[in-house]
Amino acid sequence: MIHLHDKTFEPFISSEEIDFAISNMAKQMDDDFFDEIPIFVGILNGSFMVMADLMKHYKGMCEVSFMKMASYEGTQSTNDVKQLIGINENLEGKTVVIVEDIVDTGNTIEELKVIFKAKNVKHLKLATLFFKQDAYKKDIKIDYIGIRIPNKFIVGFGLDYDGLGRNLADVYQLAP
Ligand code: IMP
Ligand code: MG
Repeated sequence: MIHLHDKTFEPFISSEEIDFAISNMAKQMDDDFFDEIPIFVGILNGSFMVMADLMKHYKGMCEVSFMKMASYEGTQSTNDVKQLIGINENLEGKTVVIVEDIVDTGNTIEELKVIFKAKNVKHLKLATLFFKQDAYKKDIKIDYIGIRIPNKFIVGFGLDYDGLGRNLADVYQLAP
């Protein structure tokens, strides 16, 4: 059990399971992008760990960048997604892979699709380590999914509860 602010969390997904899921995502991407040089764009803050591990498993030539979005307050997603740090690279004609820690309602990726469409990219692919399929409200196809999870609030491996828990190597769920 771990305690963050006023809440208690219990072990849910081990770092070994996470690493296995990420290596599989990297393999699929290596197959798909064998003749391309994609740019991986991590969505901060949550994606810093998945991006680091995904890049260690990905074998092909690629670029890496980050942008910063925010939609969560406490344990609830808000409908208002804010762009806090934009992207400087020219993405025109490039294959862009958005790398997310988790997709919940889908509000963030819906907003990201609009932002990247305006940049005239060649292909836009979406990747997420965790996917809450029961909470997902959009029709947008997610190209690479690491682990499907039930509609529970989790922390660790980049994910936080009001700023805490991002540095945990394993993933924990809110205890009942
Ligand atoms: P969405 O816009 O509702 O899909 O939420 C996406 C963002 O909300 C993610 O990138 C996370 O930053 C955050 N988020 C969603 N679910 C969780 C969770 O269970 N724990 C921590 N953060 C979460
Ligand atoms: Mg996030």
